[in-house]
Amino acid sequence: MAICVSHRVKSIKPSPTLTVSALAKKMMSEGIDVINFGVGEPDFNTPDYIKNSAIEAIKDNFTRYTVTSGIPELKQAICDKFKRDNNLDYEPEQILVSPGAKASIINVLMAVCDLRDEIFIPVPYWVSYISQINLVDASPIFLPTNEFNNFRITAEQLQDAIDGSSNPKAIILNTPNNPTGSVYTKKELLAIAEVCLENNILIIADEIYEKLVYDGVEHVSIASLSPEIKEITVVVNGVSKAFAMTGWRVGYAAGPKEIIKKAGLIQGHTTSCVNSIAQKATVTALNDEDGSVEKMRKEFDVRRKYIYKALNEINNVSCVEPKGAFYAMPNISYYIMNNKKGIKNSSQLCEYLLEEYHIAIVAGSAFGVDNYVRFSYANSMDNIIEGVKRFKEALHSLI
Ligand SMILES: Cc1ncc(COP(=O)(O)O)c(C=O)c1O
Repeated sequence: MAICVSHRVKSIKPSPTLTVSALAKKMMSEGIDVINFGVGEPDFNTPDYIKNSAIEAIKDNFTRYTVTSGIPELKQAICDKFKRDNNLDYEPEQILVSPGAKASIINVLMAVCDLRDEIFIPVPYWVSYISQINLVDASPIFLPTNEFNNFRITAEQLQDAIDGSSNPKAIILNTPNNPTGSVYTKKELLAIAEVCLENNILIIADEIYEKLVYDGVEHVSIASLSPEIKEITVVVNGVSKAFAMTGWRVGYAAGPKEIIKKAGLIQGHTTSCVNSIAQKATVTALNDEDGSVEKMRKEFDVRRKYIYKALNEINNVSCVEPKGAFYAMPNISYYIMNNKKGIKNSSQLCEYLLEEYHIAIVAGSAFGVDNYVRFSYANSMDNIIEGVKRFKEALHSLI
């Protein structure tokens, strides 16, 4: 008997970033010397003080289901973090702890979206937003940006898109940004938030890379700009990137009580609580920060400076200086338009780079922009130096 799958999953594709990484890892396991620029996770180990607290939690038998929305001490630690870092006052009832920021976002989307609601998405975008929007039967409305405006949308652009839309519901704004490394300024955020206020648009602010900003650039949480803006914003954050805790699966959302409560009900029927041990570890991560986050940020900064310079030194490649996260996204359009290998798009280019030069890079098409590729510089300096060298040789081999 042929079982039909739902309309929901017919258009869903595997996450291209995870696919590239899986392929690179497979090649590595076969003994091929692949340099993996595909991964979106710190290459550092989770700091010891966090691991030790998880070990203690196991020894204390803290191994049972917890309350779905998160243990009270974790929700308090998250409220304290928002106050400390963003000058935001939340009550524990306004916090939902989920298995990763990815889960936080889909819980919120499920809680607010009806059929064909329109969600504004700046392009390039993080790959999962689109699949998640489709999964909740809403529709993405794309707001293109480019390297000349530092990959940032404007308030006017958002207003125009709202004017042309029939069911405007929300915007997902990610700063610091994956894949571009762009960071919105306070002024830009204020202008965007004012448009959202005037048009009754919910802001889903994905701030997962908040701790990774460089050159003195400040991360501003859009929710902190006024009490009225806070009322229409759900802030999403987590410990994956800042604390090198990707595998622990802890993210959180903070926002209006009604949305958080409903998102929590959804989680109660899907994943239930986050792993109890990881919750305890996250309390320690947030409360007892020991300088590891800053150490990792500084190391990322060294690599960022190197890769930005090295990419721009390649003929006919241009790369905007990333100011946050751990990605660089060079423009490679010249090599797509001029090559003797018949390469026609960024994904064919990335296949060529992986097969022939053993470097795993994610095609810009995965993020909605075919003229670019994304490097993650969450990799050792030695690998970055060797990988960019291979990238340069590969591009030159094309013409
Ligand atoms: C922009 C963005 N948001 C959210 C996430 C999800 O993070 P988590 O590991 O907390 O699910 C990622 C991970 O790559 C990301 O890049």
